[in-house]
Amino acid sequence: MEAATPMPPADTATEKAPMDALVIQGGRRLSGRVAISGAKNAALPVMAATLIAPGVHKLRNVPDLRDTRTFAAVLGKLGAKVRFEGDLCTIDTTHVNSVEAPYELVKTMRASIYVLGPLLARLGGAKVSLPGGCAWGPRPVNLHLAGLAAMGANLEIEHGYIVGRGVKLHGTHFTFDIVSVGATAQLMMAAVTAQGTTVLDNVAIEPDITVLGEVLVACGARIDGLGTRRLVIHGVRDLKLIDTTIIPDRIEAATFAAAAVITGGSITLERVIPDHFEAALRKLEEAGGNVVREHDEVTVTGRGRPEAVDVTTQVFPGFPTDMQAQMMAVASIANGTSVIEDTIYLDRFSHVAELQRLGARIELKNNVAVVKGVEKLSGAPVMATDLRASAALALGALVAEGETRISRIYHLDRGYEKFDHKLTQLGARVERVQE
Ligand code: EPU
Repeated sequence: MEAATPMPPADTATEKAPMDALVIQGGRRLSGRVAISGAKNAALPVMAATLIAPGVHKLRNVPDLRDTRTFAAVLGKLGAKVRFEGDLCTIDTTHVNSVEAPYELVKTMRASIYVLGPLLARLGGAKVSLPGGCAWGPRPVNLHLAGLAAMGANLEIEHGYIVGRGVKLHGTHFTFDIVSVGATAQLMMAAVTAQGTTVLDNVAIEPDITVLGEVLVACGARIDGLGTRRLVIHGVRDLKLIDTTIIPDRIEAATFAAAAVITGGSITLERVIPDHFEAALRKLEEAGGNVVREHDEVTVTGRGRPEAVDVTTQVFPGFPTDMQAQMMAVASIANGTSVIEDTIYLDRFSHVAELQRLGARIELKNNVAVVKGVEKLSGAPVMATDLRASAALALGALVAEGETRISRIYHLDRGYEKFDHKLTQLGARVERVQE
């Protein structure tokens, strides 16, 4: 991998590179404008899709994150040449000469499994490490495997790897029993050049998925039903090269919107698509925030202490699981009791114990948290345990009295571009230090 901007190798960062911490002095109202970066979860499948057609692909507005760097490293292992120049990511997949996505990389980022479908589509073979569990539970990939099997991929698990040889993908009719973002993207990428027609039912309609479909269509794929729960994909022989701009990150946008509400400040989110995070905006309005939506900007203004809100995570267009932790931080200081339920990931609650260290009163029973809002949080050393949990801790720290030190911030660096810098620009007192 060539990189115009240096970064520690993604695969070793969690073990060997120095770990940074964020030190936040609470009590500042955030105000100003913040430019929202490209979406991590939209960029990763498009990066994978570059494997389908050999040549030089161009992706703009790619966020510079540990996860996009890790994905670039995975593509590099397969023989692709990846170059970052500012937010332009150029991926040359002319000489893809390996089908192996190694454990060392996949274990740091499960989205690496996205290379499976494109490798089978282009080379008829793949050897992709089976992702292990993650910080909040098992997160299986059975739907990816069952869908690919229905398309003719006889995949075996060998020594921890998903292995396919001599695969020729063909059309099928596959119904997802659970709506899955990743498995929908996987099968879409596998189906676009498969022989015949693939019908996928109960697919994900998250913007990241719909946009992936649009990118593929722009390259010559024939996909009907984008944005609905049924996709009909007529296989084509070849795809053209990708030249696209990644959509704005709706979760980053919603996180900054939550920062405005929790601090009682006023933040204008620039370069956003408001419809993509409407469910989060509505909850923040319920919490007392004032939201002004414009074409590609949203201004969110908090009004003192937030009100309690009940939240149940759902697939798009419902409230996203990727905002559950941040909303819990808001609920922690709300006036009243909030009930927060995660129906997508039943164990995604590692932030609860850390928010409690800041003084939050949260009772967790299975996948439901009852949050009794307190008037004040108080700063403490806490540990980031996963990406969105880290963002929740940063939000808590912004309103906690005194100093909060958030260690293991590499989790945050997986998915928020220049987060500390953006917070500082909005008036927060944040310092990145080495642990
Ligand atoms: N599931 C299965 N079998 C599968 C696949 C999924 O049972 O084969 C289950 C999962 O365990 C979960 C549900 O289906 O209960 C939905 O999971 P999904 O497949 O939709 O999640 P994903 O594709 O692995 C993406 C995002 C996550 C986000 C989820 C849900 C990327 C790279 N990741 O994961 O983002 O939480 O969709 O919206 O797009 C994050 O950014 O912090 C993050 C974790």
